[in-house]
Amino acid sequence: MMNNYYVLNGPNLNRLGKREPGIYGNETLETLEMRLNDLAQKHGMTLTFKQSNHEGDLIDWIHEAENSKGIIINPGAFTHYSYAIRDAIASVDVPVVEVHMSNVHKRESFRHQSVISPVSEGQIVGFGMKSYELALMSFL
Ligand code: DQA
Repeated sequence: MMNNYYVLNGPNLNRLGKREPGIYGNETLETLEMRLNDLAQKHGMTLTFKQSNHEGDLIDWIHEAENSKGIIINPGAFTHYSYAIRDAIASVDVPVVEVHMSNVHKRESFRHQSVISPVSEGQIVGFGMKSYELALMSFL
């Protein structure tokens, strides 16, 4: 797959639609993936979607994505403390864009730090599902 990108979602993002709708909205992960697929298709990109609640799965997929064109990752709460995910990103030579649906800087102070940002190309926060679309567009 020539123009393939990985979209990785971490813990609790399988709960989109049910989880804290005041913060994350009413739409599901399935809807997000459909929206991203539509956008990707328009730009001749293909997407590989993965979601897990387990840190090791995310690490394995980061390694697997080594031969793709880029990674969009929402590591969920791992963002704030997973040195293992940070090191996995640093271990691959592929651009990574970190996304968050909520504006983490407006929320609890433990969400203000990202251990992922120093090894990412950029970070997009606060635009709900659009955060992912903007991340995808950053690869154009
Ligand atoms: C999140 C923000 C994180 O702080 C939180 O733990 C999540 C979702 C977001 O998309 O806004 O699980 O990454």
